[in-house]
Amino acid sequence: MCGIIGYTPIEADRNVLDVVLDGLSDLEYRGYDSAGVAIADSSVSVYKRNGELSELEAAIPDRSPGGDAGIGHTRWSTHGPPTDENAHPHTGCDGSVAVVHNGIIENYRALRADLEAAGHVFESQTDTEVIPHLIEAALDQGADAGTAFRRAIDRLEGSFAVAAVFSDTEGVYAARHQSPLVLGLGDDGYHLASDVPAFLDHTDRVVYLEDGQFAKISPSGVEISDERGTLVDMPVRTVEWDPEEAGKSGYDHYMCKEINEQPRAIRNCLRGRISEIDASVSIDEIGDLARPERIQFVGCGTSYHASRYAARLFRRRGIPATAFYASEYDAGAVPVNEETLVVGVTQSGETADTLSAIRDANRCGAETLAVTNVVGSSASRETDHVMYIRAGPEISVAATKTFASQQVALLLLASTLAGDYSRSLVEALRALPDQIQSILDGSRASEITDVYARSDAYFFIGRGYGASVALEGALKLKEVTYKHAEGFPGGELKHGPLALVGDRTPVFAIVTGESATGKMLSNIKEVEARDAPVIAVTDSPSAVESIVDHVLRIPETHEQLTPILANVQLQLVAYWLAHRLGRSIDKPRNLAKSVTVE
Ligand code: F6R
Repeated sequence: MCGIIGYTPIEADRNVLDVVLDGLSDLEYRGYDSAGVAIADSSVSVYKRNGELSELEAAIPDRSPGGDAGIGHTRWSTHGPPTDENAHPHTGCDGSVAVVHNGIIENYRALRADLEAAGHVFESQTDTEVIPHLIEAALDQGADAGTAFRRAIDRLEGSFAVAAVFSDTEGVYAARHQSPLVLGLGDDGYHLASDVPAFLDHTDRVVYLEDGQFAKISPSGVEISDERGTLVDMPVRTVEWDPEEAGKSGYDHYMCKEINEQPRAIRNCLRGRISEIDASVSIDEIGDLARPERIQFVGCGTSYHASRYAARLFRRRGIPATAFYASEYDAGAVPVNEETLVVGVTQSGETADTLSAIRDANRCGAETLAVTNVVGSSASRETDHVMYIRAGPEISVAATKTFASQQVALLLLASTLAGDYSRSLVEALRALPDQIQSILDGSRASEITDVYARSDAYFFIGRGYGASVALEGALKLKEVTYKHAEGFPGGELKHGPLALVGDRTPVFAIVTGESATGKMLSNIKEVEARDAPVIAVTDSPSAVESIVDHVLRIPETHEQLTPILANVQLQLVAYWLAHRLGRSIDKPRNLAKSVTVE
C-alpha cells in the first residue's frame, strides 16, 4: 500500500526536506502513483504531485536547509484516482496541520458528512482528508496538538498508520492501527516510517510500534503511549539488512514477500465489505450495479484463472457465466447485449488484450466492470463500474497476492450481485487470512521440492473449484522455474496427457471438496499406475495419505474458499523449486509485469 515517513532532527542544522525526499526514494520499490512532503516550522509547507518522485522534486522551489520536522508519502491509490489533489499530505482548512496516512478509513463518509455540515471544505476524494479536518476541529475547541491528534485518531475505524506535523509545534505525531509503523533512532535525529528502508541509511536501531500505540518523535526523543495515553517502553532492535536488500523486508525475493503478504492483502480486500452485524456483503464502489442476466469474464494468464473461478461461483448462484481468454474474446459473436455484464479481471488494469476485450464489449452495448488493483488504471477508466482488489503494489512479475485478492474480490462480487449471503461463507472469509498464515507457517513445500527438483515435467490436476488452481499452479511453476508444467481438470487426464505421465513427472493433485474427492482418487490411481509420484494438496489428509507420496495440507474451510488455500501451497512449491534451481525469480526471462501489446 502507501509508504509514509517522518523525520525530526536533533540539531536544527539538518535539511529535513532532503532526509524526507531520500526516504521516499528508498520506498520507491513499493510502487506508487503520487508522492508528497510537508515541512513544518512556524508554518507548514506542503508539496505534492501525481507521478514520479522527480516531478515532486521539480515542484519544490527551494531546497535550502530548514524545517523542524517533516513527513512524506508515496501513494498507492485506494480512494480517488491519482491526482495532485488526492496526493498526500492533506491539510485542514487553515493549513496548520498536515497528515499522511497508509491504510483505509472505513467510516470516512460519515465523518466527512459531519465535518462538511460543520463548515469544513474538502479538496480531495480521499478517505485520508478527514484526519486533518478532525484534528483541526479539536484544535479549534482548544485542544493542544497531541490531544487533538489523539481525539481524531479515536474517531477512525479501519486500518491506518498516520503521521502529522503542526505549525509552531515540535516533532511528528503518529499512530498505528493494523498498518505497519516503525521508529528509527538515529544519531542525527528520529525517524518513523511504514517500512525500515525509508531510514536505513541513517540508522539500524528500530522500534516496531504495536497496534493501538501512539508515538511522538521530537528533538528531545521518542515518546510511545498506549490507547489510554499511558507511556510505554518498547524494545529497541537492530536491523541486520543491507540497505539494498531492505525493500524485501528480509525475504530473499519479492515473490516470497508477496506470498507472505497474502493474509494482510485479504484483510484489506474484505475491510468494510462484510457486515459485522449480519452476514451481508456490500461493495460501496458498485452499489448501483444490479444482478445481471448473464456475465462474461475476460482476463489473461493468472487473471484468466481467477475469471474461471469466478464464472463457476456465479453459475453456482444461478447466473449464467463464462470466462474467456481476453485475447480470444469476440463480443459480437458471443453475443452480448445491455443485459450482459462483462467483467475485465486485470491486476494492472493495463493489459492490452483485456483492454481490447473491454472495448469490444463496450462497443456491443454490454455493461462493463473492471476488477483491478490499480486505481485510475486504463481498465478502471474505460468501464462503467470498477471494483478494487486492494492487494497493494506487487513487484514480482509472478502474480501471487493479487491472485488471492482477485479470488476474494470476485467471491464478494458473486455474493453481492446474487444477493446470496451465507453466514457460513462469511465466517469462512473472516477466518481466511489466519488460515493462509497457518499454511505459510507450516508448509512442507520446500522439502518436497528438494525431492523433485530434477524431474522432467510437473502436472497439476483438480476438479471443480480445484481446476482453476491446477491451471494456476502449473503457470506459476513454469513461469519462475522454466520447467515444463501443465495443469488440467482431472477428468481430462485420460483424454491425452496420460501419455506423458511416468516416474519422472510428479503430479500435484488438488483433492478438496466433497464433490471432487471420489473422482480425484480415481485420477490419482491412474497416474500412480504409471509410476508417477503424487503430491496431494488437500483438506482431508486421511482420505489420501495411504495412496499418495506426500501431502500438502490446507485447513478445512467453505468449499468455495478451498482453491484460495490450495493455491498458497502451490505458490510455495513454485517459489522453492525456482529457488533450488537458482532462477531469476522476481524477473523471469522473457516476461513483463504488465503486457501492454496485443
Ligand atoms: C502470471 C502473471 C500473468 C498476468 C497476466 C495478466 O504470474 O502475472 O499471467 O496475470 O499478464 O495481467 P493483469 O492481471 O495485469 O491483466
